[in-house]
Amino acid sequence: MLTFRRALVAAGFLITMLFLISRTHTTKPYQEPLPPKDATEVQQSVKDEGQTKTGYAPTTPVSTSSSAKVAPAVAEKRPQPGQQLLQDLSRAPLKDRLAYQFPYDVESKFPAYIWQTWKYTPASGDFGESFRPAEASWSEKHPGFIHEVITDQVAVHLLRHLYASVPEVLEAYNSLPLPVLKADFFRYLILLARGGIYSDIDTHAIKSAADWLPDSVPREAIGLVVGIEADPDREDWAQWYSRRIQFCQWTIQAKPGHPVLRDVVANITLRTLQKKKDGSLKSFQDKNVIEFTGPAVWTDAIFDYMNDEKYFDMNTGSGNITWRDFTGMTAPKKVGDVVVLPITSFSPGVGQMGAGDYDDPMAFVMHEFEGTWKPESERHIGEETAS
Ligand SMILES: *[C@@H]1O[C@H](CO)[C@@H](O)[C@H](O)[C@H]1NC(C)=O
Ligand SMILES: *[C@@H]1O[C@H](CO)[C@@H](O)[C@H](O)[C@H]1NC(C)=O
Repeated sequence: MLTFRRALVAAGFLITMLFLISRTHTTKPYQEPLPPKDATEVQQSVKDEGQTKTGYAPTTPVSTSSSAKVAPAVAEKRPQPGQQLLQDLSRAPLKDRLAYQFPYDVESKFPAYIWQTWKYTPASGDFGESFRPAEASWSEKHPGFIHEVITDQVAVHLLRHLYASVPEVLEAYNSLPLPVLKADFFRYLILLARGGIYSDIDTHAIKSAADWLPDSVPREAIGLVVGIEADPDREDWAQWYSRRIQFCQWTIQAKPGHPVLRDVVANITLRTLQKKKDGSLKSFQDKNVIEFTGPAVWTDAIFDYMNDEKYFDMNTGSGNITWRDFTGMTAPKKVGDVVVLPITSFSPGVGQMGAGDYDDPMAFVMHEFEGTWKPESERHIGEETAS
């Protein structure tokens, strides 16, 4: 007799088997880097060791095991093979299953993808003439990259494919009540699964991503490149921004599986499903977007990572990494496998918070905010947004 309980057990087993079969090519399920915890000016701390630029791998990252600046992985919670593994995985916390599904290899190359989202693809007449030069700038600056503008419909199918084995992520994505929430969530999801560059549809590439990191920084030691969105050095900063230093999430470069992406995806998934359960998702307010999926939760995830003893040796550093380590910076800083670019890099020309102009050597990406610059705190409200 097929009781409900038995059916559940059978379904669980089936899902686990599918999950495992789809992962059999993975050899390093829980590998994590353990980079030294140090926030240092890149120019000063990383000596040029005569390394040539490693370039980009279009789809299959190639490992280079030599001269890694990052300590080897510690995999204490590596599951036992066989039956043990089956049981561990099916009950494992979401973060562990994401780590298993999307393993992180700091030594792999940055995948040569550019991901953008919009209601229409550039092939459509409805795409929007004002976005065409911006969209084209990314292809022009990145020959050989795969450049995808993903529509709502394509996003649903793509995510169903990529996250089939982590169904609660799909459930959370599909439950989000506002397009802007989905647009935020999508960028973390695509970078976690595939890596590359995500950039908003209203951004211009000023310089190729090949030039974002100084030559002295070994690419095989970096897994995440972020820029500063806001560094409001004024008493009333909290009226304008959600954090004293805010990292921007309109442009992000990452290798697949990066722990910060995994953390932010797990965080948004769990909170969305909790809200769904307690019925508060329907009454979601626009003004909560920044905290829920936007720059606030993104900034928190980055700082949490930089201060996580699972990843960093906390004994070598001099206290926690805080906004003070990044305020006023004009050159890139490296913290473990993360490079933080100064405000000029992704926010040139905003005319405040120390940002340089568009022709500054450190200006890499220009964000139009659909024509006019607005404080980030007003950015999402009442706007049509990609999703
Ligand atoms: C998600 O991140 C926020 C910080 O932005 C934190 O306060 C919250 O506890 C996290 N929630 C979960 C479920 O991880
Ligand atoms: C550093 O951060 C950890 C975790 O966020 C916290 O428990 C600890 O008190 C902080 N230490 C200092 C010196 O601020």
